[in-house]
Amino acid sequence: MSSPFTFGKIAKGNSFTNRAFEMKRLAANFDNKVNTILISPRRWGKSSLVNKAAETFRGKKSRYAVMIDLFNIRDESQFYAYFAKKIIQATSSKPKEWIDTAMLFLKRLAPKVSFPVNMVNDFEITFELRDKAEDFEDILNLPEKIACAKKIEIAVCIDEFQNILNFENPLLFQKRLRAAWQKHMNSVYILYGSQTHMMTALFEKKSMPFYKFGDVMYLRKIDSKFLTDFIITKFKNTGKTISREFARQITEEAECQPYYTQQLAHIVWINSDKTVTSENINNSVTNLIEQNEPLYIKEAESLSNTQINFLKMLTESERKDIYAKELIQRYRLGTSGNVTKIRTVLIKKEIIHLVNSKYELVDPVFRLWLKNIYFKS
Ligand SMILES: Nc1ncnc2c1ncn2[C@@H]1O[C@H](COP(=O)(O)OP(=O)(O)OP(=O)(O)O)[C@@H](O)[C@H]1O
Ligand SMILES: [Mg+2]
Repeated sequence: MSSPFTFGKIAKGNSFTNRAFEMKRLAANFDNKVNTILISPRRWGKSSLVNKAAETFRGKKSRYAVMIDLFNIRDESQFYAYFAKKIIQATSSKPKEWIDTAMLFLKRLAPKVSFPVNMVNDFEITFELRDKAEDFEDILNLPEKIACAKKIEIAVCIDEFQNILNFENPLLFQKRLRAAWQKHMNSVYILYGSQTHMMTALFEKKSMPFYKFGDVMYLRKIDSKFLTDFIITKFKNTGKTISREFARQITEEAECQPYYTQQLAHIVWINSDKTVTSENINNSVTNLIEQNEPLYIKEAESLSNTQINFLKMLTESERKDIYAKELIQRYRLGTSGNVTKIRTVLIKKEIIHLVNSKYELVDPVFRLWLKNIYFKS
């Protein structure tokens, strides 16, 4: 039998647990056409959550959801081609319809639809973009135009949205998006991504085009109780037993971060016979740290001595007052001006973040590595 735990992929079906509160809020936003911005550090479950909410939305009559991932999109023109293709593809099923839709709604842009031989059930669209507002508008209004023409509702889900900050003129681009999308009545947008400081800058600064674009949701970790039950059930369903105590320990070591919880549970599952022992847990934590070690070594090498000292402080305990004189001295952090700089760099690198007004390391396993290996040697 193979391990019942998954990580590194979208959590679907019975690999997906809880998030009932977030699902409800997203469903209500979709239904009421309230745009949503979803932010969290890496691997807390944004893509999985939106994927599930989109599936639920699609399950209702005349409702469509489009999944757009900006991971690989490097510039504005690539964005427009990809956006148009995904919207057309998700709202009509036949190749003939793809061409018709493109011709009908993007006529001004002289679209060309092609069917590369290596792409089954897929197509590419190219057009001649002039630097004219009406051209951008035609593309950005495509969801709304299709929704009105077909009498449907469309949820447009855009993942890794912070990538638009790498485009040549991100501010102008944001203005274009916002100007078009804020008028839409039959399509709704959910924009999500990691790199919390970038996402926050896009949506929380008053001067930015997307300020007050919609409901800003900060995704939380999953409650320990749900993760514990999840682990116990998965072991049971595969003919193994884990005590509540040990299952809870897994969630604690992973600080309830969903990715590491699943990864550690997976390692424990592999390492154990019929019943999980405390030795299995301890060995598995060591394995988990070892598996991630190469990345952490690189990360530590890229940091200055004072940055490392700052992390040492946080591995011992999360901190509210990072400017306390006593701490600055004890951890040799230099001046308070230095602390500000360290803080800014580490937040930018997504190594630390603020949770309930306390600074902590984002990655619980990096913290374990620093604490148990790096600072011990
Ligand atoms: N609701 C959930 N139930 C159980 N496991 C989950 C859940 N959500 C996420 N996970 C676990 O976390 C992993 C990462 O999830 P996902 O890819 O959705 O996160 P993400 O926030 O989109 O990550 P990234 O920032 O890298 O894009 C999944 O592979 C899965 O192991
Ligand atoms: Mg994701």
